[in-house]
Amino acid sequence: MSFESLELHPAFKGFFAEQGFKKPTQVQRQTIPLLINRKSVVVVSETGSGKTLAYTLPLFHALKIDEEKHGPNTLKGTPRAMILAPTRELANQIYLVMKSVSHHVKLRVRLLTGGDSHAKTKSLAHSTFDILIATPSRVKSSIKNKELTLGHLRHFILDEADNLFEMGFKRDIEAMLLDMDQTLLQLGFFTATLPPAFDIFLTEKFVGKKLERVAFTESHRPQTRIETYNVRVEPEEKNMVVRMFLEKEAKGRGIIFTNQKNQADEVHKFLKEKLPNLKVKVLHGDMDTDAREEALASFVSKKAQVLVATDVAARGIDIDDLAWVVNYGLPKSAIYYLHRCGRVGRGGKTGVVYNLVASHDGKMITEINQAIQGQTHLPLQMIPDAKLNQQARDKAKARAVEKVKKKVEVIAQRDRRARASDVAVEKQGRKTVRSARRGPGRVLKNKTRVR
Ligand SMILES: Nc1ncnc2c1ncn2[C@@H]1O[C@H](COP(=O)(O)OP(=O)(O)OP(=O)(O)O)[C@@H](O)[C@H]1O
Ligand SMILES: [Mg+2]
Repeated sequence: MSFESLELHPAFKGFFAEQGFKKPTQVQRQTIPLLINRKSVVVVSETGSGKTLAYTLPLFHALKIDEEKHGPNTLKGTPRAMILAPTRELANQIYLVMKSVSHHVKLRVRLLTGGDSHAKTKSLAHSTFDILIATPSRVKSSIKNKELTLGHLRHFILDEADNLFEMGFKRDIEAMLLDMDQTLLQLGFFTATLPPAFDIFLTEKFVGKKLERVAFTESHRPQTRIETYNVRVEPEEKNMVVRMFLEKEAKGRGIIFTNQKNQADEVHKFLKEKLPNLKVKVLHGDMDTDAREEALASFVSKKAQVLVATDVAARGIDIDDLAWVVNYGLPKSAIYYLHRCGRVGRGGKTGVVYNLVASHDGKMITEINQAIQGQTHLPLQMIPDAKLNQQARDKAKARAVEKVKKKVEVIAQRDRRARASDVAVEKQGRKTVRSARRGPGRVLKNKTRVR
């Protein structure tokens, strides 16, 4: 199926020509017609499968058609469509994708995130725009300050939807929904992971909306592969292992995920000290907006080779040519494991994941493996249980020792037999020599050969 057969507005032609995309991805093929037909959707498809354009293209299409019918939106601070994302970094990335489309389709896109200056946000109330991309807390404060009105919103997309509701934004989002006209509202929930509890919540919460489901099974899996290596280390060995990995093994650029912000700082400091030629940046939620922006921009633009980050970079972030991910510590939840690893192996490319597995990780490994089994569309390998590994190693060692003992015993027996036979042969030899002196020497030769 080609993009043309999706019958999008002709204004997209320039965008497709510029991007060079040959055909829509599977999630785009299935989602775009539903959204064009004003359906509300829950879309679950693997990391890197192209969900951003799966909602961006039909959104622009619908708004463009509305604009042609009813004229441009003239209401200030009143978007027609809103996309929520859990982090500033992701909101900014979506904004850049949407800007690349709006450049051709000519609609107005605005970004509203936590780090924006008040002056910048203020101007929202005085400007007209069609699409707002935002983080939830900023939307909440802007509504409160009467800079933003959601009464005319017709399309509401929640990217990384499960994460938005889990991150403590649930009440904020529910409050936003109360401001919207439910009858005319199109909803879109997009994610790579749909925990059962969240699925039930969606069904119960939006009982009046018919939510169409787009989800893929294993048979639809693209030929993307993520190779996984598990390195068994004790916590105090991790820095040394990471250093060795970067010096000797690492090919291309990658992200080192840590579980805590201070751990990210420590690893970053260690690498800067020990590998002064390595271009490494750090990214976590305690850094100020400018430092966060600078770190990610430097990594995205390939000035930096390595990014040490917390889970702030785990979801949605799309970085060209990323070759590997190191889990310095396994994440606290299996879902984050899927998202972290999903930073590589995107859009049909391959990637490598290295897990530094400590002896206390057994429980987490079991949970991750269960999640991977349930997550039919993510091509991740199972992590062997470190504890079981150890037991298996001990058993193998015991078996090897047993084998060696047996071998030693067999050799000893053979030696004993050989010595006994030597003695016999010697005796026999003496006899034979004595008899050879009397007859032919063949018997002595044969005996010698047998020995
Ligand atoms: N039709 C297409 N053909 C080729 N590449 C595409 C196509 N659509 C999107 N891409 C590229 O695929 C990459 C991944 O897309 P995107 O970030 O939307 O994935 P995602 O499904 O949102 O992943 P995640 O779950 O990690 O957020 C991007 O670099 C994007 O430019
Ligand atoms: Mg995404």
